[in-house]
Amino acid sequence: MEQIRRTKVVELLQLEDFETTVNVKGWVRTRRGNKQVNFVALNDGSTIHNIQIVIDLGKFDDELLKPITTGACINVNGTYVESQGKGQKGEILAKEIEVFGTADPATYPLQKKGHSLEFLREIAHLRPRTNTFGAILRIRHHMAYAIHKYFNDKGFFYFHSPIITASDCEGAGSMFQATTLDLNNVPRDEFGEVNFKDDFFGKQANLTVSGQLEGELGAMSLGAIYTFGPTFRAENSNTPRHLAEFWMIEPEVAFNDVNDNMDLAEDFLKYLIAYALENCKDDIEFLNEMFDKELIERLKFVLSNDFVRLTYTEGVDILEKSGEKFEFPVYWGADLQSEHERYLVEKHFKRPVILTDYPKEIKSFYMKQNEDGKTVRGMDVLFPKIGEIIGGSERESDYDKLMKRVDELGMNVDPIWWYIESRKFGTAPHSGFGLGFERLILFVTGMANIRDVIPFPRTPNNVEF
Ligand code: 4AD
Ligand code: MG
Repeated sequence: MEQIRRTKVVELLQLEDFETTVNVKGWVRTRRGNKQVNFVALNDGSTIHNIQIVIDLGKFDDELLKPITTGACINVNGTYVESQGKGQKGEILAKEIEVFGTADPATYPLQKKGHSLEFLREIAHLRPRTNTFGAILRIRHHMAYAIHKYFNDKGFFYFHSPIITASDCEGAGSMFQATTLDLNNVPRDEFGEVNFKDDFFGKQANLTVSGQLEGELGAMSLGAIYTFGPTFRAENSNTPRHLAEFWMIEPEVAFNDVNDNMDLAEDFLKYLIAYALENCKDDIEFLNEMFDKELIERLKFVLSNDFVRLTYTEGVDILEKSGEKFEFPVYWGADLQSEHERYLVEKHFKRPVILTDYPKEIKSFYMKQNEDGKTVRGMDVLFPKIGEIIGGSERESDYDKLMKRVDELGMNVDPIWWYIESRKFGTAPHSGFGLGFERLILFVTGMANIRDVIPFPRTPNNVEF
């Protein structure tokens, strides 16, 4: 075949230069036609749209054309011409074709359109080839880029918190251990306890549940940082909103109080949604059409409305008076469930809500304690269809108060001595939050299950691929 520089489909679809010779490579979506001419819809992942390859059967050997079936990968040289048909500007009249890889119609699972999302999860190695997952994964990319752009433009520094740690930031104890000990022959000390002195790090280590504690140290030196990395939670929650491995974005800012923190969270989310609407138009329109007819409307609605801000106490009061039958009881002190959060957002206020000042018992040890001795300066951002999308707080910057709380909770200071010590040396007010990246992608794509917005989801009993 003649060597011609490859043009991506996304660029071809913009091309006005008809009658030029081009090369395109991609995967066959469909092939149809008659005895004289065939039409192949080719997709290379660069856009949701396909380019049409027109094949004059008289000009090619039958044997060469036979394996050009759905799923096959082909390399095509041809003339880019103005399209005769509707729905596309241009198409390619094939001059030379090479088959890179065949896909046996008897076994290639993505033959017909309209597979269920459940089925596609079982073939996660192939589902990025579908329109739906192509769209989701492109949006995911653009959102990751927009996150870096947002913070970079605002003077935040990307801070790399460790993946392996010895501490438990959220104190929930739902950690995956990181060990090189032989599990069939675990060394034990004189009390029969596992002897971590013999382990790789000489102490118990785990995969991080959050980069926040280290991120705070970044903020207390660089001023404003953000982390963006994988986090791990061994909670046995099989819900459409929980993953065992998810990505989290955690900004942390010196001198910000909880109100500044809420302003940042709202501005950040609106920036990302506006970015998606502007830069992922084709993919969002496709998802709006196929899965969620209110998607675009919902995204625009969030952009054009202020988030409601109220305290946990006020929120619980509204829920108690709502007369709504909830599966989980609601009372002051209860940890709010997604049904409660969604009631406030979808039924009561009909817009995003930020709840603040939660009871200290249901929040982590590091949150700034309020004067009342009962509540802490936490803030959760609640979104339609999602519930909690962001969790954050102003941090307790006072050494004595922090130590008192650590003692009350009976926490072991050994793995976090360095964090506590930071309150002794130039402590300052500071705040931050964590945005669950997949929850953001759920919102922006309108998908209903978090397993469908990450290439290879990890959930209880599932680590395939
Ligand atoms: O509310 P979380 O647990 O807060 C923290 O980890 C803090 N250290 C963040 C901070 O202040 N820097 O988690 C933050 C967000 C949640 O609001 C949710 O969007 C997401 O992370 N999240 C999960 N996403 C998917 N699967 C899970 N199992 C998640 N757990 C939390
Ligand atoms: Mg939370």
